[in-house]
Amino acid sequence: MKKIPSNFLWGASTSAYQVEGGWNIDGKGPSVQDVSNGGFLSDLKVGGITDFKVCADHYHHWKEDVALMAEMGFKSYRFSINWTRIYPTGFEDKPNSKGLEFYHNLIDELLKHEIEPLVTIHHFDAPIVLEEKGGWANREVMVPAYLKFAKTLFLEFKDKINYWQTINELNMVILFSHVLRKQKKGHDTGTESYQSFHNANVAQALAIKELRKISPSAKIGPAPNISLVYPKTCAPSDVLAADNANVLRNWSYIDPFVKGYYSEILIEYWKANNYQVVILPEDEELFKSVSIDFIAFNYYNSTTAQAPIKDSEYKVGDQEMGFNIENMFQSADNKYLEKTPYGWQIDPIGFRLTSRALHDRYNLPIIITENGLGAKDVLTSDGKIHDDYRIAYLRDHIAQIPLILADGVKLIGYNPWSAIDLVSTHQGISKRYGFIYVNRDEDDLKDLKRYRKDSFYWYKKVIASGGEDLK
Ligand code: BG6
Repeated sequence: MKKIPSNFLWGASTSAYQVEGGWNIDGKGPSVQDVSNGGFLSDLKVGGITDFKVCADHYHHWKEDVALMAEMGFKSYRFSINWTRIYPTGFEDKPNSKGLEFYHNLIDELLKHEIEPLVTIHHFDAPIVLEEKGGWANREVMVPAYLKFAKTLFLEFKDKINYWQTINELNMVILFSHVLRKQKKGHDTGTESYQSFHNANVAQALAIKELRKISPSAKIGPAPNISLVYPKTCAPSDVLAADNANVLRNWSYIDPFVKGYYSEILIEYWKANNYQVVILPEDEELFKSVSIDFIAFNYYNSTTAQAPIKDSEYKVGDQEMGFNIENMFQSADNKYLEKTPYGWQIDPIGFRLTSRALHDRYNLPIIITENGLGAKDVLTSDGKIHDDYRIAYLRDHIAQIPLILADGVKLIGYNPWSAIDLVSTHQGISKRYGFIYVNRDEDDLKDLKRYRKDSFYWYKKVIASGGEDLK
């Protein structure tokens, strides 16, 4: 066990489209997430859940919300900037000043409370207009639009922001585009997906280069969802499948920025499937010319894989459940792990193993930018929320931190999901993650009043004790 240092970034996380609301005011344009609960292109119809129009109404409650974060003792707050608040269609020459003003106010308020802002440039909410033009699959449109957006933020906030994350969970966006990018098609690993993957990597690399010029002392890294893949058994074919899954799910989303190239396993997989991913000669140079300062990663659980089975009956779930890639691997349940009420496996030791694996491969500082438990909380008649299940989940994960540090991993922060209740990617507001309860349900916005959950008081103690008091 190693003591958690006093400058450790204790905090929590949100994303703009899930927490802010204010979906069409002060010049904000529509994003792929705004139009309905299934998003704008989606054939994924989810009955009985809210859209993203009001969410936690953080757009109007930000001051109160930051005060509650400060009360918990946050040292950091990880949030994203809503792309369509700054560039409503993605094509404007000038940013929307009202949008910038909102984030200046939010950031100033955080700094006033000595909370370090950890800013995600892009978290699932691309402008509809860009998506209609092909989204990430269209390099000519999306790469300059993202770069312009990122550059605007760097110039605007260069005196206030020390930590930037380029894109949230690009791996999940590519592998689960129907859930997270609200695309029409289901799970798709074809040419279009991998062209999107490559284009988004080019965009991130260009943004990193831009930041070095504008704000040389600021730090930047990607924010993938990393969960180490275990083999279902020690049969070599299962171990090979787990290795394939690690490459396709995890490492390929960091390799270009650290190693400067894609793994041969990925390239061979594209060739075997005749995926025609266009990589320009200068792209390799570009990857080699950039470096990242840290890896932000979201960890909810580990994954288990076995050798592919023909005509398998395994059901593909959402971003934290399994998925199968023909001839490479197939996901499997891990019989040793319990599950959350939403079917996500719980694996605190997997948190340690995933952190070690990242350290071994990349040897960079890491920051946890998501980790948490979604559940249906109950507000009692005396205004309490007894979320002991969430405390148990977080406690078991935080208990791993001193061990992870003792393993030599440079873990510098822990920002679980989520600071406050917000709307889940595809399961509504009833799937709550926050330390702060927001009084609304799927159809009734009620008074949107904030309540402190039991986990709020508990996390406050954890932070005050530097992670030592987990009772
Ligand atoms: C991550 C995302 O995949 O998991 C968040 O970065 C998301 O945006 C979180 O909300 C929890 O997932 P869900 O589907 O329960 O909202």
